[in-house]
Amino acid sequence: MKLGTKLIVYLLGVVIIVMTIHGYLSIQQDRDNIVREIRTGMRGFTRAIQAALNNIYGDDKNLKATQDFIDRVGSRGNIHGLVVYDALGKPVAVSVSLQETKEFPDLDPTPILQIDPGPVFEGGEGMEGYADSPGQLVYYRAEPIFNSDNNLVGAFVLGRRGWGLSRTIEARRNRIILTTSTLVFLLCLFILIIVRRNISRPIQKLIERIREIGKGHWEQRIEVSGRDEVSFLALEFNRMCERLQEIYSQLAREQEEKLRLERDLRHSDKLASVGQLAAGLAHEIGTPLNIIFGRAENLLRRPRSAEEMNENLRVIRSQIDRIAGIVRQLLEFSRRKEPTFRSVDISFLLVGVKSLLQHKIQEKGVEVETAVSAHLPRIQADPDLLQQVFINLYINSLFGMNTGGAIKIGAEVTQDRDPLPGKAEGGPWLKISFEDNGPGISPEHIGHVFDPFFTTKDIGEGTGLGLSVSYGIIKEHGGEIRVESEPGRFTRFVIHLPVSPSQTDSERRGVET
Ligand SMILES: Nc1ncnc2c1ncn2[C@@H]1O[C@H](COP(=O)(O)OP(=O)(O)O)[C@@H](O)[C@H]1O
Ligand SMILES: [Mg+2]
Repeated sequence: MKLGTKLIVYLLGVVIIVMTIHGYLSIQQDRDNIVREIRTGMRGFTRAIQAALNNIYGDDKNLKATQDFIDRVGSRGNIHGLVVYDALGKPVAVSVSLQETKEFPDLDPTPILQIDPGPVFEGGEGMEGYADSPGQLVYYRAEPIFNSDNNLVGAFVLGRRGWGLSRTIEARRNRIILTTSTLVFLLCLFILIIVRRNISRPIQKLIERIREIGKGHWEQRIEVSGRDEVSFLALEFNRMCERLQEIYSQLAREQEEKLRLERDLRHSDKLASVGQLAAGLAHEIGTPLNIIFGRAENLLRRPRSAEEMNENLRVIRSQIDRIAGIVRQLLEFSRRKEPTFRSVDISFLLVGVKSLLQHKIQEKGVEVETAVSAHLPRIQADPDLLQQVFINLYINSLFGMNTGGAIKIGAEVTQDRDPLPGKAEGGPWLKISFEDNGPGISPEHIGHVFDPFFTTKDIGEGTGLGLSVSYGIIKEHGGEIRVESEPGRFTRFVIHLPVSPSQTDSERRGVET
């Protein structure tokens, strides 16, 4: 229920209860006033009738005259009727108004006929009261009848209609209903306006602003006017926004700083790898340079036919291309780049990395086996960052290995049930494993290999950045990297990278892009 409606319902409840009690009490008071008035009037009137009946009935026992008398009195104005009782309390005369229901259809005689005059006989005194009959109130007074010797010889009951009272009560009731309804209506209107102006509208504004702020518009503020609770709420809310904005921008700054540091670290790590690669690549450049040198010498030594010259120049050009290619690869790798995610073919990437490291692999006399499943799905990734990860893993493996060593690289799609930490759902994942049979990692070191600057290598040989940078890169791709090792036997790094389901589908259907 809305606040306004609730308020109206509660207030109306209170108003109606108060008005009902007030109405009831007023009606009671009116009734008492009228009853008092009627009683005073009745007392005088009954005394006159008593005097007449003392005479007609008390002394003479003249039933005929009694009947005539009470018929005459009983049909007058407000008089409801009369009943005369003998000394034994038996009715001896009932006024015609109480008998003839046809002649007096609006008179119900029952309340008067039912009144027991017993107490009058016992106390010898009059009694009075009022009786409810449907639609009206009837007042009665009962008095004893004496003979001239002052002996109690009978009693009579006189009833009087309370028209006035009924009418007054009705009018009063109507007036109360009217006042209550008017009051209720005005109150509704009043509450509605007050609630709308002071509560609903400000709260609505508050909600709108909160929604805006929820969308990230931290700079939004709520206008504060007035000094009520809603205004204080708005004020507090504004303060909270300010604090949030401060915290938010501080977080953004810190995040920015962290990103910058991370990029710097990545770049340092890359440069360290480049250093490792450069030696091998320099060696690799030697071969084509030798070929170029030989062919150039050849050309210089004596004149050649145009055909022979062409042949030599073609060889020279292709060897220059080869050198340019090698240098380009290295430069490309060492360049500082902004991360860009795109559709990446992992098997292609793995082949490229292997060729970049070919010389080092040969130098160490290590065997590389790749078990990459056919039709691997492409994934959304930054190829340069992933390349950096693979180069790090290769270099780490090659470091401790000698002739006869082997590196096994596998890539496949898995539907691992268990979700990775922080992920709501399980696979499909692209699982890349990188295993070597080198020296392995000792148990006391294995928990630290992903720590920044953790290295077991000598100064100049290791920076301790490779695995921590790789860890960050894989996390940035929504994946995970784990390590398992048995010293003296193997070291295995397993990477899980998320594959979006649509990509797997399109790949399975053979939609190659
Ligand atoms: N394939 C591996 N075999 C044995 N030890 C490894 C291997 N890969 C990593 N490590 C250990 O993890 C440490 C951290 O590796 P890394 O972060 O790449 O730094 P760095 O290679 O500069 O030492 C290494 O010093 C080494 O002790
Ligand atoms: Mg390393």
